[in-house]
Amino acid sequence: MKEVIDSLSHNEKKILLVLKELKLATPQEILKTGGFTTMDEVMGACSWLKAKGFVEFKEEIKEYYSLDKEGEEYIKNGLPERTFVSTIIHTYPDVTTVLKFDDIRFDPDKKGIAIKWAKEKNWIEMKKNENGVVVLTLTSVAVNAIKNEIKGEDEKVLRELSVEELPEEALDAKGLAMLKKRQNVIKYREQVERTIYFTEQGQKLLEHDITVKDEISEITHETIRSGKWKDAEFRKYDINAPISVSYSGKFHPLKQMIHNIRQIFLEMGFKEVEYDYVVSCFWDMDVLFIPQDHPARDMQDTFYVEDSLPLPNKALVQRIANAHENGGNTGSKGWGQKWNSEEARKAILRTHTTVNTIRYLAENPVSPVRIFSIGRVFRREAIDSTHLPEFYQIEGIIMEEHANFNMLVGILKEFYKRIGFENVRFRPGYFPYTEPSLEVEVYFNGKWMELGGAGMFRPEVTLPLGLKHRVLAWGLGLERLAMLKFGLNDIRDLYISDIDWLRKRAI
Ligand code: FA5
Repeated sequence: MKEVIDSLSHNEKKILLVLKELKLATPQEILKTGGFTTMDEVMGACSWLKAKGFVEFKEEIKEYYSLDKEGEEYIKNGLPERTFVSTIIHTYPDVTTVLKFDDIRFDPDKKGIAIKWAKEKNWIEMKKNENGVVVLTLTSVAVNAIKNEIKGEDEKVLRELSVEELPEEALDAKGLAMLKKRQNVIKYREQVERTIYFTEQGQKLLEHDITVKDEISEITHETIRSGKWKDAEFRKYDINAPISVSYSGKFHPLKQMIHNIRQIFLEMGFKEVEYDYVVSCFWDMDVLFIPQDHPARDMQDTFYVEDSLPLPNKALVQRIANAHENGGNTGSKGWGQKWNSEEARKAILRTHTTVNTIRYLAENPVSPVRIFSIGRVFRREAIDSTHLPEFYQIEGIIMEEHANFNMLVGILKEFYKRIGFENVRFRPGYFPYTEPSLEVEVYFNGKWMELGGAGMFRPEVTLPLGLKHRVLAWGLGLERLAMLKFGLNDIRDLYISDIDWLRKRAI
């Protein structure tokens, strides 16, 4: 505890001393009695003590009263009931007590209110006499109140408020209640009042001696040069003092993940490739032996761009046409339908990154090839917790003489392991361009989640491109992987820019 006290600042100690004396104090009281010069000093030190758990703030809403329009007037001229009764007494000095109501001359604007309150205060009684005339009797209370200038509680409160604005508890409750019943006599405003008091932990500090000495909390050039440091007391550092958290700039978790994945493939000897978002159906689908009537080509599934793109060299186009129509030189029967070059020319937003790898192979048909691509793809999908219309895929291929299916499984397992997922399984899948095909799944949240597709390119894909060796290929979803990695249940959470979530993610 002694060390804790030593580590407190000068101002913090001053506050402890004020609270030791007063137990509970407002910042204003601390300012006045604690020897502070500004409210900033007080509040700064109080906040530190609060953060350290030694004091607490209590906040209360207080009502402050002051005079309103009518109240100001009553201060000048007296309450209407008092002037009313006073007028009667002065106009009829010899009157016993009974008066005809209609005979009394008084400001007609105030007569009503004066009578109401005079009755309420038991200053007058009014009734009809035997002739049906309204008569008024002054009571002895009234005569006493006027002649001896005896003020009621309401009048006392009015007087006090004419001097200064006051909180409710400083005023007589009955007098205040009476004034509140009148219109525009008093008004109030609410103010949040803070009081500062010790916590249990703070209370314990008082068991020790707290002395406020002049001490140096910051060593300056001046302190050293002047030699002051030789005799000075230095404030001890509190290494446990809370500090404001600062969040440094960093990459978005998804960007960071892309970076890590890139690193993994580069380390495994792959080269990265990237092409455009807008591609022809030829590269996105036809080269991959996706039939021209495949549902994926539907406007419902694919974003078409109002344009066409040129086809590559005629010989290649012809070989692709043959593969589709009758299998060409691939040993296949093809799809048995006429291949339409206009359909192939149509421009779309790429629907998978396989368009990148296949294009690279067409341009670089010589083995060995190990490439990967991480890029955005676009599909007309209904958005839900695992589907986005725009998402990233992680694509890769290996083309080499002895490439085989086991190698494909091995590479995918290795990739997921390096990303942090050991529990991966493979199921048979179907893609028009691979045979055999498989789907990769990862175990998460009690169920298996589909993360990607893979397989070996069919001869209908490789032979028209002049590829001599087997091609292992895969296309994996990035966001679904990120969901697993970050423990999210909804894929959309990755894109909502929740600043709190982003800040708290480890770098
Ligand atoms: C393909 O896109 C194939 N091109 C993969 C492939 C490549 C197979 C090479 C064989 C050889 P698929 O449509 O299943 O496959 O998408 C692959 C992965 O992308 C999915 O497993 C999933 O993780 C992710 N994915 C697909 N659609 C969405 C979507 N709407 N939102 C988010 N992720 C998606």
